Amino acid sequence: MEEHIFNIEGLTHQYADGTFAIKDLSILIQQGKKIALLGNNGAGKSTLFLHLNGLLQPTSGTIRFKGKKMKYDRKALLSLRKQVGIVFQDPDSQLFSANVQQDISFGPMNLGWDRNVVHEKVQWAMDQTEVTEMKDKPTHFLSLGQKKRVAIAGVLAMEPDVWLLDEPTAGLDPYFSRQIMALLDSIHHPDKTIILSTHDVNLAYQWADEVVVMNDGKVIYQGDPVSVFHDEDILMKAHLEKPWVFEMFQALLQSRIPGEKELVPRTKEELLQKIETEKIY
Ligand SMILES: Nc1ncnc2c1ncn2[C@@H]1O[C@H](COP(=O)(O)OP(=O)(O)OP(=O)(O)O)[C@@H](O)[C@H]1O
Ligand SMILES: [Mg+2]
Repeated sequence: MEEHIFNIEGLTHQYADGTFAIKDLSILIQQGKKIALLGNNGAGKSTLFLHLNGLLQPTSGTIRFKGKKMKYDRKALLSLRKQVGIVFQDPDSQLFSANVQQDISFGPMNLGWDRNVVHEKVQWAMDQTEVTEMKDKPTHFLSLGQKKRVAIAGVLAMEPDVWLLDEPTAGLDPYFSRQIMALLDSIHHPDKTIILSTHDVNLAYQWADEVVVMNDGKVIYQGDPVSVFHDEDILMKAHLEKPWVFEMFQALLQSRIPGEKELVPRTKEELLQKIETEKIY
């Protein structure tokens, strides 16, 4: 079995205006992981996503998906997009149908599914993202957060193996951010891989199995979600702040157990439990 869902070697991408957005980037993405992609503005995160579902082609280098080199003919792209769903950073690039329900139905209809199955999946996806009430509304009248949820519903209805989410919670209020993250947890499964880019370090720290950090078109970190926040050089380069749970714990422990990484809590609940059981205050 191929355990690497993506194998990227020496990927470089130069845009038409001459900008090198990705520079000789190599990375292996393991199947079944929940990966947070972090990095400063302009680091190349969105450009990388667009390569992973074949919307952009490498200037040089190769991308293998499930062990096979990506191809860009119509048939290959159709098959790729059945398996790899993308939620764009800007929902206006994603939504184009007359109303919400039609937009969410577009992807599943193109998969050649039976009409009833499409209808069922679309109802379910609208329900999960709480957009059912606005199903007849023109997409261009929606608020930013509503558009984001409709875009997420469109991918959800297709049930892809790989989810690429480019800043899915940007523009969502705290309630819907939590809902979307809970939804991602509920769809997560050893066969599903989720790669999510975000500027929200608290979200990344708490949610991810693995963190990837990009800067200047390159990957400067790939590993667990705790060690990265000990590395001041990476944090500075990628404009990252420390998650508040991490920072609070470091402050509480300063005089007690410096550097015990495995003990670091990742959620508010874990932090509170540590304070209570270990009497650190
Ligand atoms: N269509 C384009 N033409 C020319 N340059 C582009 C284009 N799209 C992106 N770029 C450039 O490529 C680089 C990487 O951009 P990209 O959007 O991938 O960054 P990002 O990490 O997603 O940033 P952000 O956090 O702001 O979303 C930037 O320097 C950007 O200006
Ligand atoms: Mg981006």
